Amino acid sequence: MRRLSGVLRMTKNVLYIDCCIRGEESRTRQLGEAFLFGLAIRETFTVERLTLMEEPLIPLAGDFFLQRERLLENGELSHPRFRYAHQFASADRIVIAAPFWDLSVPALLKIYIENISVQGITFDVDEDMGLFGICRAEKMFFLTTRGGDYRQSPLETGIPMMRNLATFFGIKEFDYVAADGLDLLIEPPEVILGRAIREAQDRAVVW
Ligand SMILES: Cc1cc2nc3c(=O)[nH]c(=O)nc-3n(C[C@H](O)[C@H](O)[C@H](O)COP(=O)(O)O)c2cc1C
Repeated sequence: MRRLSGVLRMTKNVLYIDCCIRGEESRTRQLGEAFLFGLAIRETFTVERLTLMEEPLIPLAGDFFLQRERLLENGELSHPRFRYAHQFASADRIVIAAPFWDLSVPALLKIYIENISVQGITFDVDEDMGLFGICRAEKMFFLTTRGGDYRQSPLETGIPMMRNLATFFGIKEFDYVAADGLDLLIEPPEVILGRAIREAQDRAVVW
């Protein structure tokens, strides 16, 4: 909470999930940072960064999978391995930056999603409603860059997946900025990226 000229202003906690594998070289990271810059102008957000490349994320397989089954069976939702799910579930807003890989997103982001999809933390199920999301966030924003131009293509499966996941987790609003054609050399990549960066900043200011 911030006090501004005698007015108490609630700050919202934004979880920024960085899956920009190429790090400093990543154009997607530039988009993500532009969005955060736009948020910073508003002074009503605090940003918690989660850089997936620095996390000990493990895919669900073998003993790691079996441990999850056991913990869920015993209702042990406070186990440390569920920390990512709790962090995700309690954020006011979610921002994700990930490049377009193999028609979707990098596997690292999918592994993270496996780790946060935990019944009783991010989603639940009952007889009346079936599956329903229980995350606190009201909005999710996704930033991506693509080598080709997929704006009109049914082959683009990153945005639909992220939109569906937002719904699955109970997050009502989903939006995105994508920069297309960065590797096509039809238009200079810095021009495409510059346009997307301005769009990301503008969108953040009204998000
Ligand atoms: C492993 C890998 C897979 C990729 N798959 C695709 C793809 O399926 N379609 C495409 O248009 N571009 C693909 N690209 C190109 C990237 O989408 C593009 O270069 C993007 O801007 C990379 O973002 P970055 O600069 O943040 O790393 C791929 C790049 C890599 C490294």
